[in-house]
Order: sequence, then structure tokens, then C-alpha cells
Amino acid sequence: MQPTLSRAVVFLIFSAAAYFPLADAAFPGEVQTFREAPAFRNGRECPPRETSSIIHIAMTLDATYLRGSTAGVFSVLQHASCPENIAFHFVTTTHRRRQELRRIIISTFPYLNFHIYHFDSNLVRGKISYSIRRALDQPLNYARMYLADLVPATAQRIIYFDSDLIVVDDVAKLWSIDLGNHVLGAPEYCHANFTTYFTHRFWSNPSYSASFKGREACYFNTGVMVIDLWKWREGKYTEKLENWMRIQKRSRIYELGSLPPFLLVFAGDVERVEHRWNQHGLGGDNVEGLCRDLHPGPVSLLHWSGKGKPWLRIDSKKPCPLDSLWAPYDLFRHSSPSLFNDS
Ligand SMILES: *[C@@H]1O[C@H](CO)[C@@H](O)[C@H](O)[C@H]1NC(C)=O
Repeated sequence: MQPTLSRAVVFLIFSAAAYFPLADAAFPGEVQTFREAPAFRNGRECPPRETSSIIHIAMTLDATYLRGSTAGVFSVLQHASCPENIAFHFVTTTHRRRQELRRIIISTFPYLNFHIYHFDSNLVRGKISYSIRRALDQPLNYARMYLADLVPATAQRIIYFDSDLIVVDDVAKLWSIDLGNHVLGAPEYCHANFTTYFTHRFWSNPSYSASFKGREACYFNTGVMVIDLWKWREGKYTEKLENWMRIQKRSRIYELGSLPPFLLVFAGDVERVEHRWNQHGLGGDNVEGLCRDLHPGPVSLLHWSGKGKPWLRIDSKKPCPLDSLWAPYDLFRHSSPSLFNDS
């Protein structure tokens, strides 16, 4: 091998590492860059931006779902009556990539009011038991259980959004729901067969199944939740969720990831939010990314929960009909840096 060639190879390897800090399995060897979103300004009827008028929204950020997260943020801003009164609270697991993610958010949304928090994945690593879908086993999937520890106490309430959804209505309407005595608000689905979310082992053990006694437990999706953080801290709900995760580690009482602990702690004790705020299942189920239709009724939020993600289906030229509703919020810029043409 000629010395010049080997130097070129070494250069390529190093420059590739520098170029692709956020390259991932979905886009191997491709830089994730995004178009800059327009500036969204408050209407004249908006209250001044002070603590009491801020809408707090929490989302996770990682390389795999970054395209979904940016689309989600874009959709929230586009439909908000007072977009400048929204504060985003992003949670990440990696120290190394936090600066890179911050840079991407700033360049995509230069006017965004946001914070990035580091979620120590060691908090949950020992408590996660494998589920039927590997993507559900990522520590970041469990970050929603720790929002009360991550977000400053100045925020009494927070909306948690998954990174595979778009909002097509004013998020202020969801924000202003009355939680009553509840810690958590979410759309409930009482027609779903609740039994199937837990194993036979769970239902056959009276000390476990008794936890639903006196509760009209219904399935709810944890991808959209309105949470009273003050009540959450007071009631030590993170510990309650962790306790069920410890039981799961020992006894395998369910097959999914972070959802069942939420059902165990909150199902039947959830403030009912209109179904329009979580039209979920658009990604099919946990096994196959099948095309799904909307549930009947109005739509304020579309959620591609399940295995199929719109950006992957669009890129593979096999989109589902409803993926066309996600596409307008896609800020992702496909670009293949031409390392070989640069010199
Ligand atoms: C719910 O699911 C369980 C377990 O799969 C099944 O035995 C039961 O018949 C189902 N109930 C209804 C109402 O479909």
C-alpha cells in the first residue's frame, strides 16, 4: 500500500468521526442537519412572558428520534397561539452528545426557549427488564418517570410528549385542562382489553392484582401526559413506579417497557383528556409497522406509536397514507457530505 493512500484512509476515518457525531442506524454515514424553522411570534392577545404564563413541555432528545423530536417541536410552535410563551425541556442521556444536540436545536429553532437536562441512565439501567420490542428498552424511554427530579420546581405542571407525534391544535388547550385531584391527565381507552397488558403471573398473584382493586383501570398511552409535578413529588410517584420495575425484574409481570408501571400506578386514577389529544397507534403495533387509520372523532395530535415511524417509511419510499400528514413538519435535510469530492 502506498503511504499516501494509507494517510488518506486515516484522514477519512478521523474526519468521518468528526463529521458524523449523530449518525445512527437509521441514517448510516449521514449527518443529521435540519432546516431552520421560521420564527413564531406571540399574537397581540398573548399574556406577557412571565412564570405564570409559560407552558412547559418535556420531550426526550436522542440521535435515533431527533427527526421526530424536531418535527414535534415545529408542529407545536406552528399551531400555538402564544408560541413565545412555550418552554421546552429536553432530556438526553449522553453527556458527549449534549452539546451537539444543543447546537442542532439552536440552529433549527434559533428563537426557542429551551433547556437540556442530562438523565443519568444508571438510574434505570439495573431496573429495565427486556420487553417485546428492543426500542422500548432504551433508558431514555424511562426518563418520563423522572421529570419531577429533572425539571426545576418553578414549573408546577408539565406536558410530556413522545418524539413520534405532531400537534395540530393550540397546545394551550391541552395545557389548561383541569386535573382535579389527579396527578396525571391523559386520554383513557376503556375499550382496550386491560388484561392483556399484564402476564398470567401478575393476574394469578392476588397480592399483585389487588393493586387494581377499587379502581376502574383503563389503558392510557404514556406518550401524551399532563403532569402536576408538585403533586408528583409530594406523592413520591417516581418511587412507586420504580417499585413495580423491581417487581418486574423478579417476577416478569408484564411484557412491555415503561408503560405497564404507569398503568399499575395511575390507571383508573387519571384525569380524562379528550381523545383528540392522542390519536395514537399510527405506527402500527409493537411487532409490525402496519398502516393504521385514525380513530373516529376530531384530531388535535397525531401519534405514530408502534414500530412504524413516518420518517423511516417515507425514506424507504413505502409511506402509509397518514404519513403525508407528518411530512410537512419534517425539517430534516438529507445531505451526503461528499468527502471524496472535496479535495
Ligand atoms: C381479554 O384478554 C384476555 C387474555 O388475553 C382474555 O382471556 C379475555 O377473554 C379478554 N376479554 C375480553 C372482554 O375480550
